[in-house]
Amino acid sequence: MIEDILPPGVTSSEAFDDAAPAPLFPAEAALMAGRRARRRRQFATARACARRCLADLGRRPVALLPGPGGAPRWPSGVVGSITHCEGYRAAVAAPASAVAALGIDAEPAGPLPRGVLALIASEAERAHLAALAAAAPSVPWDRVFFSAKEAAYKAWYPATGIWLGFRDATLTLSPAGGFTATLHPPLPPPVDPVYEGRWLAGPELVLTAVARGAGGPERAPQPEMISVGAPS
Ligand SMILES: CC(C)(COP(=O)(O)OP(=O)(O)OC[C@H]1O[C@@H](n2cnc3c(N)ncnc32)[C@H](O)[C@@H]1OP(=O)(O)O)[C@@H](O)C(=O)NCCC(=O)NCCS
Repeated sequence: MIEDILPPGVTSSEAFDDAAPAPLFPAEAALMAGRRARRRRQFATARACARRCLADLGRRPVALLPGPGGAPRWPSGVVGSITHCEGYRAAVAAPASAVAALGIDAEPAGPLPRGVLALIASEAERAHLAALAAAAPSVPWDRVFFSAKEAAYKAWYPATGIWLGFRDATLTLSPAGGFTATLHPPLPPPVDPVYEGRWLAGPELVLTAVARGAGGPERAPQPEMISVGAPS
């Protein structure tokens, strides 16, 4: 599924259960010691996905440990991202020479719990989502919105080390499957704070992905983007 929303040059691997977890490196196993079984299984399956991505890139398997802020530390010369939710685990990776930033997120399809949208969306963003929902009521727009902000954050954080809350980003979703997240860090940002991504909503899952090419503030071309009630 996730490959449908990735640009060329980004490799991916996904799993829908924990039937094939990776054997963990000692440092990974130590990290998971004492954690709940569900978290250990999720972690090991996502590591299996990540190591398949590394193999695709011709890289040997290594331990993927969290760095500051929880972002996984990929081997030098590789950028990547990991996500997991109920019934889904995935990793994506690319050579850092080609891709500067990657962020993916998976969420169960369906509306967000009551009250969450008010915490994560501005008034303008809520109006934007209402317009989208009026035009395409079958899409769980608030879930796509939440996921897209998380994907943008995962692309942003490893490059900057700056934590941002959901209200520190303005998101515009396109019914055609694209989105733009404009981040508002407290200080002038060290990297271009505008991220382009893609989203996909299936019957069970919502997936989002952000990828930025290396070598400049390139944004993925999305000629088919149509804005519906975009926040100004
Ligand atoms: C970090 C966060 C985005 C993770 O998302 P999530 O839906 O809870 O969990 P997911 O399963 O999709 O992703 C978890 C994986 O993300 C990765 N991750 C964790 N922190 C990360 C960070 N700071 N940067 C990049 N990747 C990160 C890890 O690989 C983790 O899996 P692992 O612990 O098994 O290695 C979320 O918990 C969070 O803190 N959000 C608040 C910040 C935010 O999203 N702001 C939005 C506005 S920009």
